[in-house]
Amino acid sequence: MKGLILSGGKGTRLYPLAYTRAKQLIPVANKPVLFRVIEAIRDANIDEIGIVIGDTGPEIREAVGDGAQFGVRITYIPQDAPLGLAHAVKTAHDFLGDERFVMFLGDNVLQGGISPLIADFAHHPEWNSQIVLTAVERPEQYGVAELNGDGRIKRLIEKPKAPPSNLALVGIYMFDHHIFEATDAIKPSFRGELEITDAIQWLIDNGFSVYPHVHTGWWIDTGRPGEMLTANSLVLDELTPTIQGTVDAHSEIDSRVTIEAGAEIVNSVVRGPAIIGRNTRIVNSYIGPFTSIYHDVVIENSEIERSIVLEHSSICHIPARIQDSLIGRHTDVTISALRPKAIKMHLGDHSHLELL
Ligand code: TTP
Repeated sequence: MKGLILSGGKGTRLYPLAYTRAKQLIPVANKPVLFRVIEAIRDANIDEIGIVIGDTGPEIREAVGDGAQFGVRITYIPQDAPLGLAHAVKTAHDFLGDERFVMFLGDNVLQGGISPLIADFAHHPEWNSQIVLTAVERPEQYGVAELNGDGRIKRLIEKPKAPPSNLALVGIYMFDHHIFEATDAIKPSFRGELEITDAIQWLIDNGFSVYPHVHTGWWIDTGRPGEMLTANSLVLDELTPTIQGTVDAHSEIDSRVTIEAGAEIVNSVVRGPAIIGRNTRIVNSYIGPFTSIYHDVVIENSEIERSIVLEHSSICHIPARIQDSLIGRHTDVTISALRPKAIKMHLGDHSHLELL
């Protein structure tokens, strides 16, 4: 079996962060989501992985390389334009050939990995496809599956007004080569994309067998800032803590805190679950639960919780606690020492700022 990761797309829902960076490389608990996806596929014993890339391809190639750092072989598959998930599959036809494959959206995080699902599909070579589903509270906001009496999937409905079940599609799919007949046959949807749900429905309508795999742990599509923060909290909650950096005698560190090599905690309090990245300095500050501070950051005389701060940023002398925030790279948040005392901002397009 091969793996296919979709890492093109536009990422508009994660603007402004996704203007300047591939959204799949934004870290949760200090590891890019895409790296977590690659590791999940590798841990299911699949070492041949194709990554579909778009405009952010160069950055993804640089971060992932040939895959040796993960113990896999990576092939990059450029997609001319983000014309839909089924279009991405079609683009990957040469790489996939006739092999069965698992397709994983490069911005999704799933609890517990995909080994059970891969094993399920491998034990049923007669199945043409298997789709991961999970029970959700508001099925009308998702693509939802209706099941047959015999356990197969009968129908997929996008954002149904009257959902036939509470089982939503997670961004993980298994296919055999018949999927290419489907991606060749379907037409673009009203939004101009070749939809994977249409391709799967085509398989069902043409007599191919599509089975569900119901995932019982959590699953997060990190497409929006709030979801990115939720994924960060869930992954931090499961992290095994390690202390490699230094903590001075005036600091207080919770038992569920990871401090990476070269990080320094000076006269500060860090409550877990939290992670402090390589060469980051935390001085006279409070880092609250569910916070990931990436590498080469400075936090001084400030308080922050339930947030993600990306590399080479600084937060200094902020009088109010920062919460539920996603702070990009090379960003400085500080207070002016000069008069007139005023709020001064250099915010990119689509930024969001909430003041007290
Ligand atoms: P989406 O999040 O559905 O789309 P998007 O990345 O364009 O984001 P937005 O809606 O915020 O503009 O995509 C899911 C994953 O699939 C994501 O990792 C990007 C990838 N993708 C492709 O590789 N090719 C495509 O044509 C599309 C639409 C998405």
